[in-house]
Amino acid sequence: MQKLSSAISEVFQNFGVVNLKVESNSTEALHNSVFMRACRREEVPYTPVWLMRQAGRYMPEYRDVRARVSFLELCKTPSLAAEVTVTAAERLRVDAAIIFADILLIIEPMGLQLEFSKGEGPVIHNPVRSVADVKRMHEVEDIGALEFVFAAVRETRAALRSDIPLIGFAGAPFTLASYIVEGGASKNYVHTKSLMYNDSGAWHAMMLLISRGLIKYLNAQVEAGAQAVQLFDSWVGTLSPDDYREYVLPHTRSVIRGITPGVPVIHFGTGTAALLELMREAGGDVIGLDWRVRLDEAWSRVGHEVGVMGNLDPVVLFAGIDHVRSEASRILDYANGQPGHIFNLGHGILPETPVDTVIALVDHVHEISHRNC
Ligand code: CP3
Repeated sequence: MQKLSSAISEVFQNFGVVNLKVESNSTEALHNSVFMRACRREEVPYTPVWLMRQAGRYMPEYRDVRARVSFLELCKTPSLAAEVTVTAAERLRVDAAIIFADILLIIEPMGLQLEFSKGEGPVIHNPVRSVADVKRMHEVEDIGALEFVFAAVRETRAALRSDIPLIGFAGAPFTLASYIVEGGASKNYVHTKSLMYNDSGAWHAMMLLISRGLIKYLNAQVEAGAQAVQLFDSWVGTLSPDDYREYVLPHTRSVIRGITPGVPVIHFGTGTAALLELMREAGGDVIGLDWRVRLDEAWSRVGHEVGVMGNLDPVVLFAGIDHVRSEASRILDYANGQPGHIFNLGHGILPETPVDTVIALVDHVHEISHRNC
């Protein structure tokens, strides 16, 4: 295959189409990158590592940009979103970049009024609490409303090293629904579960509408240049296994099945120790684990036909470097060099995390996992 594609690009080069060669070389470099190989559960020379929320407030370069623009302006300015994405990936020397955006951007074209207020996190001014509210939600007809994300993906792809894959992402249907119904963060998800239990018709109608929008959104990120996608089901751990199966699984499954074939999907959640088999049933090439489960046990439960990502407690990064290294080594021991492990935290990096410790973690994972293959 490699031979064929270089033969083809040679022919074209002889006709003066030099760009094609460059393009085909970089496509190959991406396809054979350590991260993409791990997504396909192939042997790798070392365990790839990236960190959720790797571009964020713990990093002085990010804070400098944020001093000039609001969070939403940053998300909506492709050159700035590309800059913070690439800076974080280069500074940390990680094996993949994740596009700088937010899971909540997609709710604006659904007719919801989103604001990120200082200190409070996201606020949705017109939350959905009833059948009538669901009826006034919009279908994401024109995915062009999120063109700034796709432009950021294109700019980032052009600026990233040619062997560093770019991950596109979205919130999974349940986590998005929880924000849409609660109007912001929540502890007990009372409004969300009330809608689910009291009006399951409205609940499923809303989940269908969200899921259809997500498929378009994720595939448009792929089209713009993302090599893999991740679904964040950050708050799904609040559900019982039976509720997950009835109210969530069919929707998450339909989103994952709708992703462009051949594009690896990482399916991540937190507090999911009781849900792992069900998340696996919903789909994904790689299941993202939080730190509350042991990686080897979780991997046996989901089966080695899928990869796993994780799962260092983000708070370990506040400990001394020796402790960080030994905890990371322990996770690598649990993975035991089996193909399909992507090292990550069990959730996003916290704002006060020391950058030097993060860099030392990435270097340690590379060093310790180095194999001769
Ligand atoms: O990982 C990356 O580097 C890419 C960027 C990224 C952000 N949000 C940037 C962000 C990603 C992947 C997300 C996903 C996201 N957003 C999730 C799922 C992941 C998770 O942590 O569970 C969720 C639940 C959200 C919603 C959201 N966005 C919340 C709850 C908040 C406020 C809380 C907080 O951490 O401030 C945000 C804001 C947000 N998204 C920030 C960043 C860097 C902080 C905004 C700032 O600069 O002030």
